[in-house]
Amino acid sequence: MQHGSNAPTPCASNDNYSTDLALAATCDDGPTMGDIVAARFGRRDLMKGLLAATALSAIAGPFGVMARRAEAAASSFSFSEIAHGVDETHHVAPGYDADVLIRWGDPVVANAPAFDPMNQTADAQSKQFGYNNDYVGYVPLPIGSNSADHGLLCINHEYTTSEHMFPNLPDPAAAMTKPLVDIEMAAHGASVIEIRKQGGKWQVVQGSPYGRRVTAETPIRIAGPAAGHDRMKTSADPLGSKARGMVNNCAGGITPWGTYLTCEENFNNYFVGEVAGHAEEANYKSYGVPGKEYSWGKFHDRFDINKEPNEANRFGWIVEIDPYDANAEPIKRTALGRFKHEGAESVVNGDGRVVLYSGDDERFAYVYRFVTAGRFNASDRAANRDLLDSGTLYAAKFNADGKLEWLPLTYGNGPITEANGFRSQADVVIEARKAARLMGATPMDRPEDVQPLKGSDKIYIALTNNDRRKPEQVDAANPRPLNRWGQIIEMTAPNGDHAAATYSWEILVKCGDPAVADIGAMWNPATTANGWFACPDMLATDNQGRLWVGTDQGASWKKASGTADGIWAMDTKGAARGTSKMFFRVPIGAEMCGPVFSSDDKSLFCAVQHPSVDGTEAWEKFGRKSTFNDPATRWPDFKPDMPTRPSVVVITKQDGGVIGS
Ligand code: FEO
Ligand code: CA
Ligand code: CA
Ligand code: CA
Repeated sequence: MQHGSNAPTPCASNDNYSTDLALAATCDDGPTMGDIVAARFGRRDLMKGLLAATALSAIAGPFGVMARRAEAAASSFSFSEIAHGVDETHHVAPGYDADVLIRWGDPVVANAPAFDPMNQTADAQSKQFGYNNDYVGYVPLPIGSNSADHGLLCINHEYTTSEHMFPNLPDPAAAMTKPLVDIEMAAHGASVIEIRKQGGKWQVVQGSPYGRRVTAETPIRIAGPAAGHDRMKTSADPLGSKARGMVNNCAGGITPWGTYLTCEENFNNYFVGEVAGHAEEANYKSYGVPGKEYSWGKFHDRFDINKEPNEANRFGWIVEIDPYDANAEPIKRTALGRFKHEGAESVVNGDGRVVLYSGDDERFAYVYRFVTAGRFNASDRAANRDLLDSGTLYAAKFNADGKLEWLPLTYGNGPITEANGFRSQADVVIEARKAARLMGATPMDRPEDVQPLKGSDKIYIALTNNDRRKPEQVDAANPRPLNRWGQIIEMTAPNGDHAAATYSWEILVKCGDPAVADIGAMWNPATTANGWFACPDMLATDNQGRLWVGTDQGASWKKASGTADGIWAMDTKGAARGTSKMFFRVPIGAEMCGPVFSSDDKSLFCAVQHPSVDGTEAWEKFGRKSTFNDPATRWPDFKPDMPTRPSVVVITKQDGGVIGS
C-alpha cells in the first residue's frame, strides 16, 4: 500500500580509497562502512594502512570474512537501498509495491463474520485471521505444480497482547475475563489461506475450501517417541496421544512433501501455578514454566501446572499440518524435540534422508538438527506422512577451530542415561535441552531461524542477541559479551552432506553499528550506513540461493540500531560477502517476520507483526506506551475506528521482475 519515499542518494565516487587497500566503493546509497571508518580515523591514517590494522580489527574482530579478506565490494543486489528510520508506516525500495494481503480479523474460513474490533467474540476470531502473524510459508496450487501465481499461504499466529487487541483495558492483568481469554486462544495458532495472482496483484480467494484456522483449542495428534508416555498424559487425555491446541507458533518451514511445519516457541508463558516441589520441577524450570504471562490458567485448569501437572509437557513441539486438506488432523512430531523452537527449515539430503534444522530461542540455548531414518519419496506423497517420527536428533557444538560437531541426542548415548534421569527416548525429547547440555552442546546467543541456502552446502543461523553473556562466557561462536546486536553464523555441510557428523562454520557478520568501535560489529566495509542492522531473526533464501534477513529488535530498537525492523539483502559470496542492503522497513513498534519467496522470486511474502507495540515510548513522536485506544500507529488501515492490525504484506516489483534483481 505505502511505498518507500526515500530516494537513493546519488552514486558515490568510485575512488574513495586507494586500491592497495582493495576497498571498493559502493555505487549507490550513501556512506559505506569504509567511509564511516575513514571519517573516524582520517583518510591519511587509512592510507597508512590503519584501516586494516586498527579500525577493521576493532570492527571486524578475529573471526570471519574481514579478518581473512582485505577486499570489499558493493552489494550484488541492484535495488536502491532505503534508509534507516522510524515512522507510522512501511517502506520498500523504489520500484517495488508492498501491498497488504490479509490483516488480523479478515475472513479465513467460508462463513467468517466481518471484523468488529469493538465487539469481538471467540467464535468470530476462530474463523478470522489470527493475531501477530509470524512465519509465512507458500505451497503451490495445484498440488505438485510449481505455480508462482496460485497457492496456499500458511501463516503462524504467534501470540497476543490484550492491551492492543481489546478496547478500554486499563489494566490487562486485572481486566481479563473468560470471554477475552477465549478470544486470545482463538487468535493463536495458524491460518491457511488460498491466494491467487491476477493482473500482477495477489488476492485472497474468499470462501476457499482450503481456508483453515488452527487455534489453542484444536485437537492435535501426538506422534513420535513421547506419544503415549506417562509424562504426556492428562485428565482429558489419559492416553497421552491427543493434545489440545498449539501456542506461540513462531517460525516454521515447508517440508519437501508440501506439509507445513509450525513451531511452538515460548510455550512457558501460558502456564500459571507454583513449580516448587512439582514432579516436573527441574524440567519445567529449565523452560521457564510457569511463565505467568497470560490469564488462561484462571479460566482453563489445564494451563495451571498444579491442576494439570503434565499439560506443559504437551507444548514446545513442532506441529505438522497438511495445508492441502483442511480436515487433516495436525500432528505434534515429538521426535524433533521439545524446546522453544524458532523454525523448522529442511532439505533433502543427497541420500534421500530429510534433514531439518531448528534453533531454540533462549539465551544460552542450542542449535539442533534432525536427520530422518527413512528417505523422501518424491513420487508418493503419502509415503512421507510419518517420516518425521523416526530419526536422530542432534545438538551443535561449535569448536574454536571452525569445526562443528553434531552430538546425537539418543537414549543411552554418553550421559543420556538413567543415571541422569533418562529412561527412554521419550524422556530425551521431552527434556531435549538437558540432553543437549549434558552432551556438551554450545550455549548460543539466542538461536532463531536456521536457513539452508537453496542449491548450496551453506546453512545460516540467526543469533539474535544475548545481553546476559558475561565477558568470561564468550567463545568463538558467541564472541561478544552483553551482545545486544546478534550475529549470523554460516555452517558448511561437507560436500553438501547434511547428515555428516561434522561441519565447518564461521561468522558471516557480527551485527550492530560498525561506526561505533565498542560494539565490535563486523560487516563488509562496502555496507552502507543503512545497510547494517541489529538482531537478525527470520532468514529466507530466494531461488537463486541468496540470503535475506528479517530483524526483531523488540523494545530495545533504539539502543540496538535506532531504526525500525526490516528486511535486508545479504551477500554471502565473493568480494561482496558480508555486504548487506536495506530493502523493506516496518512501522513503529512492529517486528519483521516470515519473508518467503514464490518459486519465481517475483513475490516476497512477509509478515508485519505487532505494529504499534514494541518500544513506542522511545519514539520521540509518540513517547508513551501504545494501547488499543491510543495507538502509536493505526497501520495499515489508518482509520480512526480501526485498531492497528498485524498483517501479511506481499512485495512485488512494479515491472513484474525478480525481487532484488
Ligand atoms: Fe518468536 Fe524467536 O522469535
Ligand atoms: Ca522469530
Ligand atoms: Ca526461514
Ligand atoms: Ca525474535
